[in-house]
Amino acid sequence: MAVADWERARRRMLLDGTVVNLNTGSGGPLPRPTYERVTELRARLARAPMEFLLREVPALLWTARETLARFVGGDPHRLLLTTNVTAAVNLVAASLRPAAPGEILLTDQEYTPMRWCWERMARRRGLRLRTFRLPAMPAGPEEIVEAAVAAMNPRTRLLSFSHVISATGLVLPARELCAQARRRGIVTVIDGAHAPAFLDLDLDATGCDFYAGSGHKWLLAPTGTGFLHLAPGRLEHLEPAQVSWAYQPPPDSGPPDRRDRFGSTPRLRRLECEGTRDICPWLAVPESVAFHDELGHHAIDARRRQLTDHARRRLTDRHGLPAATPSDPALSGGMVAFRLPHGTDAEKLRRALRDRFRIETAVGDRPGGPLLRVSANFYNTEAEIDLLADALTELAELPGP
Ligand SMILES: Cc1ncc(COP(=O)(O)O)c(C=O)c1O
Repeated sequence: MAVADWERARRRMLLDGTVVNLNTGSGGPLPRPTYERVTELRARLARAPMEFLLREVPALLWTARETLARFVGGDPHRLLLTTNVTAAVNLVAASLRPAAPGEILLTDQEYTPMRWCWERMARRRGLRLRTFRLPAMPAGPEEIVEAAVAAMNPRTRLLSFSHVISATGLVLPARELCAQARRRGIVTVIDGAHAPAFLDLDLDATGCDFYAGSGHKWLLAPTGTGFLHLAPGRLEHLEPAQVSWAYQPPPDSGPPDRRDRFGSTPRLRRLECEGTRDICPWLAVPESVAFHDELGHHAIDARRRQLTDHARRRLTDRHGLPAATPSDPALSGGMVAFRLPHGTDAEKLRRALRDRFRIETAVGDRPGGPLLRVSANFYNTEAEIDLLADALTELAELPGP
């Protein structure tokens, strides 16, 4: 697509024109059609709550489930909708009972609260938690697989890893990692917080046991859109976080895995139903999927890569900030992180970029020292990345060009 087409696409987004938003990785803004849809649904809920919840939601919920399942290459009968990835991963960790003694294996770059979640699970179940080091700048996906395989042993019960590493945007070879784990009888849980619409997902081909994903990052769906997709036979292993009406399905609800009159299946609804709440974000997912499909995944992905290449040219080639994300297309996408000089106060820099330059980006402390992460989506421009580079120069965090 030409630059003018991307400008047109940007005008269809709800973006604060006074902010340079290079942080889709933390939370995606909404396309206007999604915002209008979720607002319209909330108006219906506000006007006639019971009519909406009891009579309108079931068909809308099943449509949302089917649309999302198709988008991620899964099956609507095994797609549980959740508020976010945190809820999805916690649900799995709270339910599983791997045989003890044994080990839970993670990479050393997992999202901190998810690592805490597995640490708590290990403590409760009498298991040991172990991490393995991801190669700092892998030459190819096989280097990551080798590191993971070297860390697996006969005591490993469960492997959990991020499909896309939050701090750097490194993409992990999920299918190969799951195949290696499966060969050894190890259960796999993928944290796919960044993956939907960042990668072209095919979850059933990925072969993991549990896949947690979110819609409120790269898919640009409303905040409060998460999911858990399960391999066949895995739903039976989960216990709901909240016991509610669907805990004991009504006698007429039909077979456990068949679509029911609530827009779920009895087995999904047992886990999904948490009493009265606002699920309008889930119901607006089809709008975000349609928006993404209309622009085209491959076109969006190519545009993101043009922008991350531009960021590499500006920040690495001209300012000497080494990239912390490989440029191999199999290992990266719309996010690239840069190493900041030792001693950089990450929080101070993030605040200065936001307060003085109105640039929203992610700055963190790990892995391996301070890092600046640039998320580049189709609505960003080369000029915005230039503003970031100029701001960094002005803040004297690095030598000038
Ligand atoms: C890798 C990773 N896992 C989990 C999460 C938590 O996602 P959520 O806020 O949707 O629960 C994030 C959020 O940024 C993340 O980057």
